[in-house]
Amino acid sequence: MSTSALKNDVFIRALKRQPVPYTPVWVMRQAGRYLPEYRETRARAGSFLQLAQNPDYACEVTLQPLERFRLDAAILFSDILTIPHAMGLGLDFVAGEGPQFDYPVRTEDDVRNLSVPDMAKLQYVFDAVKLIRRELDGRVPLIGFAGSPWTVACYMVEGQGSRDYQHIKTMLYARPDLLHRVLAVTTEATIQYLNAQIDAGAQAIMVFDSWGGVLADGLFQEFSLAYIRQVLAGLRREHNGETVPLIVFTKGGGMWLEDIADCGADAMGVDWTVNLSQARQRVQDKVALQGNLDPMALFGNEGSLRAQVRRVIDDFGPVGKGGHVFNLGHGISRFTKPEAMEILVDEVHSYSRHKHETA
Ligand code: CP3
Repeated sequence: MSTSALKNDVFIRALKRQPVPYTPVWVMRQAGRYLPEYRETRARAGSFLQLAQNPDYACEVTLQPLERFRLDAAILFSDILTIPHAMGLGLDFVAGEGPQFDYPVRTEDDVRNLSVPDMAKLQYVFDAVKLIRRELDGRVPLIGFAGSPWTVACYMVEGQGSRDYQHIKTMLYARPDLLHRVLAVTTEATIQYLNAQIDAGAQAIMVFDSWGGVLADGLFQEFSLAYIRQVLAGLRREHNGETVPLIVFTKGGGMWLEDIADCGADAMGVDWTVNLSQARQRVQDKVALQGNLDPMALFGNEGSLRAQVRRVIDDFGPVGKGGHVFNLGHGISRFTKPEAMEILVDEVHSYSRHKHETA
């Protein structure tokens, strides 16, 4: 099936900075614990990993937010840690504590032993993509994704989430050669992984550089952005005659918008610290922008939430030759009331129409 068979291609068109009738919207972590039906499926699956590794469950939870809200895109239900999991680092999700690896990559030997995993180990992801495409039946496009090499390496080296990134920054400053090898192996794995998602039917690709923003200026460019650029350069950008738009999201990347806009992506995600109008000027509409409401704005009342949504749309301004995909500036909180999402989607669609008058 080609994109032209999509019943709603507003998201794809906005990423390509083509005219659209309204601003499309989807939300990072839109399938997740704030939805009671997600918690129910997760309980049936037994654990997060069993949920993510079973294509039927992954498909079911991918579609759950679309049944409730008029979202303009679906995102594959999976995780950025599937690659290190397939590398054999022993991933576990500990309740309340997030991801943990049994075998973090710390020593010269650990780094030497690292290799690109056989993509057959990730077949469950590609099967999920195929199944979701079939079940979506062209309703909206499906986004595939991976973490940036730096962000995935943060978990591989730290072994879990971190406050100060002591282990990976020790490696960065003391043995940059080791870290460059970790990043090179992860980059090659990410290229193969994303190309297989594209082959399976992913219609747009997003790279989550969630921890790029913890790097010093200069080191961000060397240890995160350079590898993102390699990943994007290695992707097959066309499938069945349709272009597959690429989105890069560096959380905390507001200082580096010009650099990020130049890395080969069609669109750039921005967090809520960035002003969209200034961002457009800085990148001169060379890429579309995705974002950037503070996820906590969903904890206000209906009036304040609608006002904050309008502020983001007004900040972007008349769309003209730009492209805007509405999103949060980071993942939705598990404590969000689903009703708030409904208000958000409604306000984006209704308020944005007058910004697209030429469409
Ligand atoms: O956006 C979506 O709806 C698609 C699914 C998705 C998940 N993780 C599901 C998930 C996506 C795109 C991700 C990406 C991801 N995973 C990132 C980058 C995005 C970001 O938020 O910055 C990162 C850093 C991870 C690593 C990860 N996975 C962490 C730190 C955790 C635990 C955090 C938490 O909220 O508990 C996960 C687990 C995870 N991945 C959950 C979900 C829905 C929660 C698992 C559960 O049900 O207990």
